[in-house]
Amino acid sequence: MILTGAGVSAASGLDTFRGHGGLWKQFDAEACATATALYTDPLRVWKLISFMRRAARTAKPNPAHQAIAALEHRLSNEQSLTVATQNIDGLHQRAGSGNVIELHGRLSHTRCMSRRCSLEPFEDWELYETQVPRCERCGAPLRPDVVLFEELLPPDAYRATETAVQTCDLFLAVGTSCTVHPACDFVYEARDAGARTMLVNLEPPESTADAFDEIHLGPAEELLPLLLG
Ligand code: OAD
Repeated sequence: MILTGAGVSAASGLDTFRGHGGLWKQFDAEACATATALYTDPLRVWKLISFMRRAARTAKPNPAHQAIAALEHRLSNEQSLTVATQNIDGLHQRAGSGNVIELHGRLSHTRCMSRRCSLEPFEDWELYETQVPRCERCGAPLRPDVVLFEELLPPDAYRATETAVQTCDLFLAVGTSCTVHPACDFVYEARDAGARTMLVNLEPPESTADAFDEIHLGPAEELLPLLLG
């Protein structure tokens, strides 16, 4: 299995979250990306999402996404590849990956805030920078179909990832700082279940380095085509 983070999409022109020029330098995560913010100041959440949508809607998959998709298509019948991504940009699917778990939701969709409303999440690349959109069915505010801090991961996505983590023979993490729970714990579970563990990242992780058998430092868009090609 492959666990990906924002670094995989850096070469597609999308900002990572941490580090120089990262999104959390431009936006206050607590004020823009928490469940609390969704209730106290939803427009701030939408401003962040609109910023991300503006960049993602014209972004194209890069050689890192393409190398992962190509690997899936080269597998034999006995092999399988699960991609679990913390990214919400949809670029793995656009590169041709078929088996993608979106742990943090999807930027491309909007849903109703009301749990009683029957409106299904719908595709929506609109930017909402001046006004919070409202549900045409029940009038409640709409929200992005993404996972914010203080929220649980979608249960199906979490379960499917746990299964892949516990049964994989290779756990490869790419372009992630390995700092956000629960994704940062998956490498320990995979290692304890007997998988070979690898990291491809621009810089060494702050806290999980001991869990990786191999760490390859460099840009994913250069290293993945070599490692997986
Ligand atoms: P981060 O921004 O925390 O980390 C991105 C990592 O990618 C860093 O360690 C960079 O060194 C590395 N990187 C940057 N460019 C790269 C490249 N070209 N090739 C390889 N590596 C590169 O992003 P994530 O780990 O994805 O969650 O962050 C995890 C979660 O924290 C996000 O999904 C988001 C965020 O808060 C929520 O918003 C819920």
